[in-house]
Amino acid sequence: MPTVNLEKMTYGIDALGHIDGKVVFVPYGVPQDQAEIEITETKTDYMRGEIRSITASSPLRQKSPCPNFPACGGCHWLHMKSETQRREKEGYLHYLLTPLSPRNVYPIEPLSAERYRNKMELKIALDANGKVILGNYKFHSHDVVDITGCIVQCPENMKMHAAFSRLLNEDALREHATNIESIGVRTLGAQQHALISVKTPPGEEIVNHYRDFFQAQESLSRLELSAGDTSFLTLMRDKPPFEFIRRSWTVSPRSFFQNNLEGAEAIYYTLQSLYDGPPQKGKFIDLYCGVGIQTMMLEHMFEEAVGVESNMDSCNDAIRNQRGKRQQQIHFFARKAESIFGTQITRGTLSALHMNPPRTGASQRVIRGLAGVKPRMITYLSCNPMTFRRDAMAISNMGYHLNEVYAFDLFPGTFHLEILASFTR
Ligand SMILES: C[S@@+](CC[C@H](N)C(=O)[O-])C[C@H]1O[C@@H](n2cnc3c(N)ncnc32)[C@H](O)[C@@H]1O
Repeated sequence: MPTVNLEKMTYGIDALGHIDGKVVFVPYGVPQDQAEIEITETKTDYMRGEIRSITASSPLRQKSPCPNFPACGGCHWLHMKSETQRREKEGYLHYLLTPLSPRNVYPIEPLSAERYRNKMELKIALDANGKVILGNYKFHSHDVVDITGCIVQCPENMKMHAAFSRLLNEDALREHATNIESIGVRTLGAQQHALISVKTPPGEEIVNHYRDFFQAQESLSRLELSAGDTSFLTLMRDKPPFEFIRRSWTVSPRSFFQNNLEGAEAIYYTLQSLYDGPPQKGKFIDLYCGVGIQTMMLEHMFEEAVGVESNMDSCNDAIRNQRGKRQQQIHFFARKAESIFGTQITRGTLSALHMNPPRTGASQRVIRGLAGVKPRMITYLSCNPMTFRRDAMAISNMGYHLNEVYAFDLFPGTFHLEILASFTR
């Protein structure tokens, strides 16, 4: 069995090393591990291998603080110290951005590594003893792993995990549990939403169980039971609004919102600092604006601000969140980013454009559209370094330079990384 010295982490669960000059990817390895591996795949320019024994353990390793790691696919890097995780993320970020010659890439600041997630999406399965378990899929698998003891979910979500586990293990509900597609829970301040998505319509008896459950769970501000687009039950109770960044926000259950509030606050204030300076003439566009939080933080810097968002719930939330703001200067459009170019939205002087697309990044149509409208400044918030790099290359080819790059460790324990960057023409 070959021995390999692992050198660095990749964007994923693999550490990277070399055997006879050829790259080898090793899941759950840690840089500075020396390990005996079994080669599981050989390609022309790389191999894959699995650790069979660690002959010299890396000083960067730690014992996972979570009992579910690595079986639960929610976290990927808990076997590495927090400091190492950040340094490795910086390593692959620098590697990815080298061709773009950014002016400044700032070091990643630590954020709380535990209890930071406000949203969970539970999958359901029966274990070998017929017990209903609620948890995550294993990495690259559809096996469900119970997340009892999870260290990254906020305590309010974990209480709801325990409450749903008790409910679905009642005799009358165990069979119904296998009809559940997923249970989503999100806690934002005093607002707590639970969305139960089922595969086929539930009977009246099941619906009544959920009514009782809602009555008993006083932390819930909303519970919805639905199959596809058909809703069977919506229950609500009055709770104080969600307060964040010194004001209250409406965030509907199906609207996007950042999963880590401490991290989101750091990102949004950094974004604001990128626009520091006297108010600018012309228009500001916030593409993929969600519930409008970034639009609202930046609008006062411009004569006019526009938010564009394809999800109707999010866009309606943005309009509600606009209350009390300079309504005539901010406009939200419920439409796809692709469809705005050549319309009144992009007409006039475009001072700056901010974009925060989903993981897939901006589509070709958006990139082509940007090349046509050429705002003076572009800021880009991304949750995927790979698609960010692709789009940043395209933006750079339009005559922009990548200036400031901030990275945020929004999901400690995972390989994920949030990037905020500014470009000027
Ligand atoms: C990463 S979220 C960002 C939301 C917001 N900027 C924030 O910070 O909360 C991406 C958003 O883009 C929206 N979206 C996805 N594809 C879109 C498209 N083609 N056009 C416009 N919005 C889109 C999603 O509904 C989601 O709200």
